[in-house]
Amino acid sequence: MRRMTVPQIRQCKGGKPLVALTAYSAPMASILDPYVDIFIVGDSVGMVLYGMESTLGVSLEMMIGHGAAVVRGSQKACVTVDMPFGSYQESKSQAFRNAAKVMKRTGCDAIKLEGGEEMAETISFLTTRGIPVMGHVGLMPQSVNSLGGYRARGRGKAEATKIISDARAIADAGVFSLVVEGVVEPLAKEITNAVAVPTIGIGASALCDGQVLVTEDMLGLFNEFTPSFVKRFADLGLAVAEAAEEYSKEVRQRHFPGAVHCFNPKAGKK
Ligand code: KIV
Repeated sequence: MRRMTVPQIRQCKGGKPLVALTAYSAPMASILDPYVDIFIVGDSVGMVLYGMESTLGVSLEMMIGHGAAVVRGSQKACVTVDMPFGSYQESKSQAFRNAAKVMKRTGCDAIKLEGGEEMAETISFLTTRGIPVMGHVGLMPQSVNSLGGYRARGRGKAEATKIISDARAIADAGVFSLVVEGVVEPLAKEITNAVAVPTIGIGASALCDGQVLVTEDMLGLFNEFTPSFVKRFADLGLAVAEAAEEYSKEVRQRHFPGAVHCFNPKAGKK
């Protein structure tokens, strides 16, 4: 089976909506792979799997480990790995060195980085040297301290104008698609109309070229904080709790393990 390629994703502009989800592990990637076009190995892994308060503490090594696992667990989806905070902002050469490391060690198809006009030169440097880049504008979690929280972006005219120029700048610099996070619907529409590459919305309405959600949010596996734009498609957290309760009961009552779960001392003897 061939993976969805970066040029194929670029061609989806204005067509059938692109389906993306986050994934951090091989088993989850393997379950989700038949249904998605793109896996984003997001730095949200820091909050979702490691219990961090923000994505700022995520390291390159963590992203490489999770990225490689998702590549191993999938066959069909295009795997895009997030560059963590501090691994690309310093200079074009720092960004190239670390992005190349991520691609070599994970086997992923592309990397993602956050930022607008200020990252355009870096994006152009990477894309002209063989590194496909997905952009990320609007609410950018790595800038949570500068932005003053996770509130939706672009309600005011000045902020909306800035986000549109950010999207245009990174599209001109060569991103093959861009995540648009946490913006009001009219702005999502304007960004989508302004750029020639697919926009992938998260909390940005149905007027983007595709959608992404954090998998654990939509499966009910992450309850610390659920943004209002998330739809729960399942409540697996509840199913896990019920299974653990049943297991603990059976162990305490010595109902588990039963005879069928034990090795037969006679089996295999001649
Ligand atoms: O880190 C993340 O999960 C993201 C999502 C918006 C895809 O960047």
